[in-house]
Amino acid sequence: MRNKNEFRLLLWIILGTIVFIVGLIISIAKHERSLREKRERRLLELIEAQDNQQLRQSYIRNVCYDQYGWRPLNDSLYEVKVTSLAKYLDHLIVDDINKLIYCFVPKVASTNWKRVLLAINMKPNENYNELNPLDIKGNESHVPQAFRTLNQYNDTTEITYKLRSYLKFMFVRNPYERLLSAFRNKFEDTFKDYFRERFGRKIVKQFRQQPTNESLERGHDVTFEEFLTYISQLNTSDHNHQFNEHWRPVTNLCFPCAIDYDVIGKYETLHSDVQLVLRKARINHLIQFPKREDTYSNLPSSDLISQYYTNVSDILIDKLAKVYNQDITLFQYNYDIRNKT
Ligand SMILES: *[C@@H]1O[C@H](CO)[C@@H](O)[C@H](O)[C@H]1NC(C)=O
Ligand SMILES: *[C@@H]1O[C@H](CO)[C@@H](O)[C@H](O)[C@H]1NC(C)=O
Ligand SMILES: *[C@@H]1O[C@H](CO)[C@@H](O)[C@H](O)[C@H]1NC(C)=O
Ligand SMILES: *[C@@H]1O[C@H](CO)[C@@H](O)[C@H](O)[C@H]1NC(C)=O
Ligand SMILES: *[C@@H]1O[C@H](CO)[C@@H](O)[C@H](O)[C@H]1NC(C)=O
Repeated sequence: MRNKNEFRLLLWIILGTIVFIVGLIISIAKHERSLREKRERRLLELIEAQDNQQLRQSYIRNVCYDQYGWRPLNDSLYEVKVTSLAKYLDHLIVDDINKLIYCFVPKVASTNWKRVLLAINMKPNENYNELNPLDIKGNESHVPQAFRTLNQYNDTTEITYKLRSYLKFMFVRNPYERLLSAFRNKFEDTFKDYFRERFGRKIVKQFRQQPTNESLERGHDVTFEEFLTYISQLNTSDHNHQFNEHWRPVTNLCFPCAIDYDVIGKYETLHSDVQLVLRKARINHLIQFPKREDTYSNLPSSDLISQYYTNVSDILIDKLAKVYNQDITLFQYNYDIRNKT
């Protein structure tokens, strides 16, 4: 009797062990398969991003050539042109260690890119697998002396050399969305008064009929329409003085016709374009780009966009399309954002 029980117990233990081991093998196999699938997906995404990039680049090159007769790579006047541009290259951040040039456009994931660039340069000789760019505070990435920009190099030969040999990249975004993002961030839910004082007061004074004294003094209640009206009448022959960097056309911040960027990423395909840059820059194994959720809490949704733009008049949209004409054309955006439902 006792032997029989012991035998049963043993049988159960053996069976249980077998089931456990088989389960373990299956779950390991599943895990491996999902890892493999993940790797394959990433690779496919990367290939697709690279293909899109090539199409985008050749489109931009063609438009640039049609409009300006510029072909940066095989242009014998390249150095002359870059020299005349040099003083405007204050948005091109240079990373001499990793041989990168990043043109930053505010409101297009620029804080995260700055964090990444700061992070990879922090401990150049250590394993920075664990380095999280989000450990770097947003305000620290905006300290002017945190980065060296291309205009700060005096020697134009050096500037040209870097432009020719470093990996250069930039990110663009639908200009209408960028405007909305700037408006919400700088005028609506801002906790700093800088933009309201510097621009808000001026906008109220110039574009509002019968403003209250408080509005004139504080510039705190600028409407989206007033903001757009202000943008629409700026002198586009004088971008550098007239346009704050938050609404200056990307073309006038990064000069994509004069500079042959290796990657021109889009906000609309941020994730895969970011991976492409990290891969080409050979830093993909060192760092993770911060995920959207962590930092993009006030990303305007398409609902919000149509809510803000629905009452904007045809005339105003037309004027804005003229201001951002080059961005719209080069980067293939629609002339009107209101069609987007
Ligand atoms: C950034 O903000 C933190 C607190 O929010 C502050 O302690 C720190 O000094 C700031 N850094 C810079 C460079 O302004
Ligand atoms: C460029 O020249 C200015 C003025 O001569 C000097 O202050 C600055 O340090 C120079 N910059 C570099 C990168 O050599
Ligand atoms: C606004 O300011 C002007 C001049 O300072 C003053 O004459 C006027 O009474 C003020 N209006 C209101 C409503 O406070
Ligand atoms: C616009 O800026 C250009 C270049 O600075 C200047 O020549 C022109 O007079 C300006 N136009 C207006 C209307 O102010
Ligand atoms: C747009 O205009 C309509 C009709 O005039 C109005 O009812 C609506 O509140 C306006 N929407 C916004 C966001 O201003």
